[in-house]
Amino acid sequence: MAMPFFPFLYLLFSATAHGEPGLIGVNYGRIADNLPPPDKVVHLLKQQGIDRIKVYDTDAAVLTALSNSNISIVVALPNHLLSSAAADSSFTDNWVQSKISNYYPATKINAVAVGNEVFVDPNNTTNFLIPAMKNVYSSLQKYNLHDSIKVSSPIALTALASSYPTSSGSFKPDLIEPVIKPMLDFLHQTESYLMVNAYPFFAYAANSDQISLDYALFRENSGVVDPGNGLKYFSLFEAQVDAVYAAMMALKYDDIKVVVTETGWPSIGEEKEVGASKENAASYNGNLVRRVLTGRGTPLRPEDPLDVFLFALFNENQKPGPTSERNYGLFYPNEEKVYEIPFTLADMASETPTPVNGSKAQVPPSKGDTWCVANGNAAAEKLREGLDYACGEGGADCRAIQPGSTCYNPNSLEAHASYAFNSYYQKMGRASGTCYFGGVAYVVTQPPQYGNCEFPTGY
Ligand SMILES: *[C@@H]1O[C@H](CO)[C@@H](O)[C@H](O)[C@H]1NC(C)=O
Ligand SMILES: *[C@@H]1O[C@H](CO)[C@@H](O)[C@H](O)[C@H]1NC(C)=O
Ligand SMILES: *[C@@H]1O[C@H](CO)[C@@H](O)[C@H](O)[C@H]1NC(C)=O
Ligand SMILES: *[C@@H]1O[C@H](CO)[C@@H](O)[C@H](O)[C@H]1NC(C)=O
Repeated sequence: MAMPFFPFLYLLFSATAHGEPGLIGVNYGRIADNLPPPDKVVHLLKQQGIDRIKVYDTDAAVLTALSNSNISIVVALPNHLLSSAAADSSFTDNWVQSKISNYYPATKINAVAVGNEVFVDPNNTTNFLIPAMKNVYSSLQKYNLHDSIKVSSPIALTALASSYPTSSGSFKPDLIEPVIKPMLDFLHQTESYLMVNAYPFFAYAANSDQISLDYALFRENSGVVDPGNGLKYFSLFEAQVDAVYAAMMALKYDDIKVVVTETGWPSIGEEKEVGASKENAASYNGNLVRRVLTGRGTPLRPEDPLDVFLFALFNENQKPGPTSERNYGLFYPNEEKVYEIPFTLADMASETPTPVNGSKAQVPPSKGDTWCVANGNAAAEKLREGLDYACGEGGADCRAIQPGSTCYNPNSLEAHASYAFNSYYQKMGRASGTCYFGGVAYVVTQPPQYGNCEFPTGY
C-alpha cells in the first residue's frame, strides 16, 4: 500500500538542496561615436535595474561615473597591453594602482578580464596571456585586492575543438599545454572562474538547416538528448556552456565555474546571417534572462548558477565586420529600447497579468497550449526532489494539492508532482527548460487527467 503524501512537508526539504538562480549583467561596449555620456549611461542602468556590467577597458570617465552607483563592474586590460603586462610587473603595479585601486571600492570593480578572446587575436598575443594574468594578480595582491577582485580572461567558444555533442566537449589540442592548463591551474589556485563568450547565433546562422530556431531561442522545443551522457538540452546556449564544462572535465578540472561574459543575438544582419532579426533577438535575450533569473544551472552543472553578461548595452556604430556586429544592442544610442525584454524579476512579474480578485485570469484554451507533467515511471526520489523544488524555491502555487484542497486527490506522488511541475512551468511562461526537473518531467499538449483536478494553462 502506498504511503499517503503530505504536500505541506515538501517545503521543509527544499531549503538548500538545489542550485540558486543566476545573475544577469550587460556589456557596456563603446566602439561608437554617438553614445550618451557615461553619467547618463549610469542613470539608464539604474533605471533599468541593471546592476552588473562589463567594460572593455578602464576608461576614467566611465569608472568615475560608476562610483557609488552600487553597480558591479568587470574591467579589462585590453589585448594591446598584454605584452607589456607580461613583460614587467612594475607595469601591472602601475596599471592596478592607477586603473583600479584609484577607484575601488567606490567603483565596485569585482573582476579584471585580462585580454579578450586572446587565442583569436590576429596580433598573436597568446603567449603573453598567462604571464600577464599572473602579473595582474600579484599586483592586486600588493594592494590587498586579490580576494575581492578576480582575474580571468574571456575565451571564445572557438577555443573548443569539439562542442557537439556536448559531452564530447574538448579544447583545441594545440592550446591545451601552452595556455589552457596553465590558465585553469591559475583559476583554480586563485579561486577565480573561467570567462566564456558564447554565441548560439553563430552556430545557428551557420547550420540553420540542422538546428531548430526554437532550440536556439529558448522557445518551447522537444529538446536534444546528448547520446554521451543521456542529458537532455532545451537550449543551444546551455549545450554550449556544458561543452566548456565537459572540456574542462576531460582535462580533470572539475571545480572551476564558467561565467558567460558575452552572449547575444543581433537585431539586424546581412542576408547570409540567417536568424538575425529584432523578433529573434528579443526572444533570445528575453528568454535567456527569464531562464537565468528563475532557473538553476545547466544540466551538467545544476548547482552552479548561470551568470551571464548580455552583449551589448548599445548598438555600436563603429564596430567593424558584418552588419550584425553593429546591431547587438539592447538600446539605441538615444537610449530607446531596440526591443522589450525583462532585466529583473520585477520586470518579469509585471509581464504576467495579475489575477483579478484572487482567481486566475480567464484565458480560453488555445491550440498551442501545453502543460508539464511528471513521468510516473521515474524514481520516486527524483519526483519528490522536483516537487520539493517546485513548491519551495521554485515558487509554484501548490495550494491545490494540500490536504482538503481540490487537487489533493488522487493522493499520489505522480499527481502531486505533475500539478506542481505544471504550476511552475506555467508561471515561467512555459519557457524551454522549465519543464525539466532533472529529467522527470515532460511537456504534453492535452490537459492532464488526474481526478477532478484542473491544471492551469496560459497565464
Ligand atoms: C548593492 O547591491 C547589492 C547586490 O549587488 C545589494 O545586495 C545591496 O543591497 C545594494 N546596496 C544598496 C545600498 O543598494
Ligand atoms: C596589432 O598591433 C598593432 C601594433 O601594436 C596595432 O597597431 C594594431 O591595432 C593591432 N591590431 C589588432 C587587431 O589589435
Ligand atoms: C604566434 O607566435 C608564436 C611564437 O611566439 C608562434 O609559435 C606561433 O606560430 C604564432 N602564431 C601565429 C598564428 O602567428
Ligand atoms: C473584486 O470583487 C468585488 C466583489 O465581487 C468587486 O466589487 C470588485 O470590483 C472586484 N475587483 C476587481 C479588481 O475586479
